[in-house]
Amino acid sequence: MKLFVTRKIPFWEEVSKPLLDAGYEITVYPNNRRIERGELVAELEKGYEGLLCLLTEKIDEELLLHAGNLKIVANYAVGFDNIDVPACQRKNIMVTNTPSDKVNESVAEHAWALMLALTRRIVEAHEFMRNAAYEGWEPEIFVGQDMVDKTLGIVGMGRIGSMVAKRAEGWGMKVVSAGKEGSLEDLLKQSDYVSLHVPLTAETKHLINAKNLPLFKKTAFLINTARGPVVDEVEVVEALRAGIIAGYGTDVYENEPHPNPEMLGLPNVVMTPHIASATVAARRDMGEIAVRNLVEGLVGRVPPNLVR
Ligand code: GLV
Ligand code: GLV
Repeated sequence: MKLFVTRKIPFWEEVSKPLLDAGYEITVYPNNRRIERGELVAELEKGYEGLLCLLTEKIDEELLLHAGNLKIVANYAVGFDNIDVPACQRKNIMVTNTPSDKVNESVAEHAWALMLALTRRIVEAHEFMRNAAYEGWEPEIFVGQDMVDKTLGIVGMGRIGSMVAKRAEGWGMKVVSAGKEGSLEDLLKQSDYVSLHVPLTAETKHLINAKNLPLFKKTAFLINTARGPVVDEVEVVEALRAGIIAGYGTDVYENEPHPNPEMLGLPNVVMTPHIASATVAARRDMGEIAVRNLVEGLVGRVPPNLVR
C-alpha cells in the first residue's frame, strides 16, 4: 500500500519506523514548504491509500474527487477544522487527529506565555531594549498589571482548558468557566483574562464579537490559542483601538498566515505564528500518534484517534 506525507514532520526518521516496518511505500513531499493545492491534487491522483497531512491542507469534497483509493486521512493536529469530516465519511475515508497530553500541555503553556507577555509588556519592553532606548531605571516605564487575585475565564473547559486552569492555582488566580457552571456573558464580565479553548465549529465561529466585547472589563486581556475565526478579528481590533479591552494575545488568525494588518501596529497585541504546540515533546508525540493511526487504519483496524 502507498501513502503520501505532505510535509516532512519533525523526528520523521524515528517516528515513521512503524510504517517502514509494515512495508508501506511512503512518499514524502520533498520541498521544505507548504504543498500547494494543485500539487496535492496531482499526488492524490496517483492512488494513495493513506494521507498524512497538516492543518494547512484543506481536505474537502472537491479534493476527494481526486483520491479514489484513499482510506485514511491522518491529520497532524489536534484540531481538524481543515477537514470536511462528513465528506470523508461519505466516501468511507477515516479521519484521525493527534490528541495528546503533551500537545495539550504545550498549548496550555503557550496560553500562559501570551498572558505573561501581555501583562508585563514583555514584547514592548524588548523592542525598547533592542532600540537602545533604555537610559536608566525609571519608575514609570512599562508599568504592567499584577496577576495574583485576578480572575481567569476559561472558554472551553476541555483537556487544554483544564490544563490552563490548573496552572492558575500557582499564580493565586481565581478561575471561572463557561458552560455548565455559568454563561459566557457572566464569564466575560468577571474575567481579567479570557482564554479560548474551544474547537472551531459553526457554533464557535465569531464567538467573541462586537456584541459581547463590550461586556469585557476594560482592563481584560483576550488570549487565543484555539483558532483565529473563534473571534471576529476586525471587531477585536476595533475593541483594542477603542479601549474596550486591554490587549490581545494570539497564536492564530482568521486568514492564516495573514494577521489583520491593523493588528500589526497595535502595542497591546502579542502575536505568535501558530506555534502553541511547537515543543519538542509535543511534536514527537504528534508524529508518533499520526503514524500509529495510519498503521492501524491501513490494516483495517479502528485507529486510536478516529474522528467520529
Ligand atoms: C494545532 O493547532 C492543532 O490543532 O494541533
Ligand atoms: C480543545 O482543543 C480542548 O481540548 O480543550
